[in-house]
Amino acid sequence: MPEIRPVTKDNWEELIRLKVREDQTHFVASNLYSVAESQFGDDDEGHWDFLPHGIYEANTPVGFLMYGFNFEHPTQQAFIIRLMVDEKYQGRGYGRFSMEKLLEIFRADDRIRAVGISYEPENESARRLYASLGFLETGRMIEGELEAVLQMR
Ligand SMILES: CC(C)(COP(=O)(O)OP(=O)(O)OC[C@H]1O[C@@H](n2cnc3c(N)ncnc32)[C@H](O)[C@@H]1OP(=O)(O)O)[C@@H](O)C(=O)NCCC(=O)NCCS
Repeated sequence: MPEIRPVTKDNWEELIRLKVREDQTHFVASNLYSVAESQFGDDDEGHWDFLPHGIYEANTPVGFLMYGFNFEHPTQQAFIIRLMVDEKYQGRGYGRFSMEKLLEIFRADDRIRAVGISYEPENESARRLYASLGFLETGRMIEGELEAVLQMR
């Protein structure tokens, strides 16, 4: 059974070694960039705390994700900021598993009424994955990406 684990001083180096395919690099920032970014959060529409995690199969790192919380936000109190599965491990269910795991965490928190995500318009497999979990496109663009939202309560 895969699991997600927070990034710590003990695992960040193995997680920044994970890579997507060459033709996917414009879909997602590097994990090194995300780990750096996570230290500062974001102040767009109020303050967001960023929580970076590794995706693991037993003790093997297979992917990386980062989500953020802003419980004061009027429309979406959680945002899935990054998701990547290393090129060697794609197509084995780790992306779907991780999304389901995050939604389970968010569903358990009453403060989260809706979850946001964004992706490049050409990223068909990401779009299909998120749509299958109930994310609906809002018609808004965020930095060149389509925004989609999943209403939880
Ligand atoms: C998008 C991504 C995270 C999906 O992770 P994954 O572990 O490969 O995906 P899964 O094996 O869980 O499959 C999820 C769905 O994606 C689709 N999919 C996965 N691999 C695919 C492939 N090689 N070709 C076509 N579709 C594929 C399938 O439709 C699958 O749906 P299903 O569960 O109904 O079968 C991964 O491909 C990735 O890291 N891509 C590059 C970075 C990126 O685009 N990140 C998202 C930014 S918004």
